Amino acid sequence: MDIKAATAADLAPISKLHDAAFGTPHEGRLVADLTHSDLAVLSLVARENGTIVGHILFSPLVIDVDDDTVMGLALAPLAVLPPHQNRGIGTALTRAGLVAAVQHDWQAVIVLGHPSYYSRFGFSATLAQGFESPFAGPYLMALELIPGALSGRKGKIIYPPPFTALAAGEPQNAL
Ligand SMILES: CC(C)(COP(=O)(O)OP(=O)(O)OC[C@H]1O[C@@H](n2cnc3c(N)ncnc32)[C@H](O)[C@@H]1OP(=O)(O)O)[C@@H](O)C(=O)NCCC(=O)NCCS
Repeated sequence: MDIKAATAADLAPISKLHDAAFGTPHEGRLVADLTHSDLAVLSLVARENGTIVGHILFSPLVIDVDDDTVMGLALAPLAVLPPHQNRGIGTALTRAGLVAAVQHDWQAVIVLGHPSYYSRFGFSATLAQGFESPFAGPYLMALELIPGALSGRKGKIIYPPPFTALAAGEPQNAL
């Protein structure tokens, strides 16, 4: 398995991958919307024998804290093709994405997902609790890439427009 930056030619297979993994069109559409809005700042694919078997996307979001602005990333979506799940591909994509995010000086990452999965990477629901968000709740988690970026602070997470439809009532359990 190798992990590389996604190219424009990968968009169609990536959307199909998310449709298959999530069983809904929402995540594939989110990927397309973020890509067409130039918001897919970090998009990685995992390939095996030339086939894309996993994908992770990070897009910029703003976290207003006190009188400061934290430059964060939304991790969404992440998916692995069903026959390839539970073999470490999602973990490898997430770790590679977080390493690249640190290298590019992003300060924090926000994810909406299952705590038992994302806690292994250091994401914390407690850390996200002080921040207003349309996705607030036990599945909203934060990870600091720079110590002190979020801890002990309160504020608001401002998502880019492609997330608005999801926040407006479409399923939120699978980002
Ligand atoms: C969730 C997903 C990205 C994980 O990728 P993966 O390559 O299958 O998982 P990995 O091999 O890296 O990790 C396996 C671990 O993840 C856990 N896991 C798998 N799917 C999970 C899920 N939906 N929620 C919580 N934990 C999950 C497994 O139980 C296993 O746990 P363990 O290490 O304690 O035994 C992948 O299963 C997937 O695409 N699922 C459908 C889409 C989805 O739900 N995406 C959102 C993630 S919250």
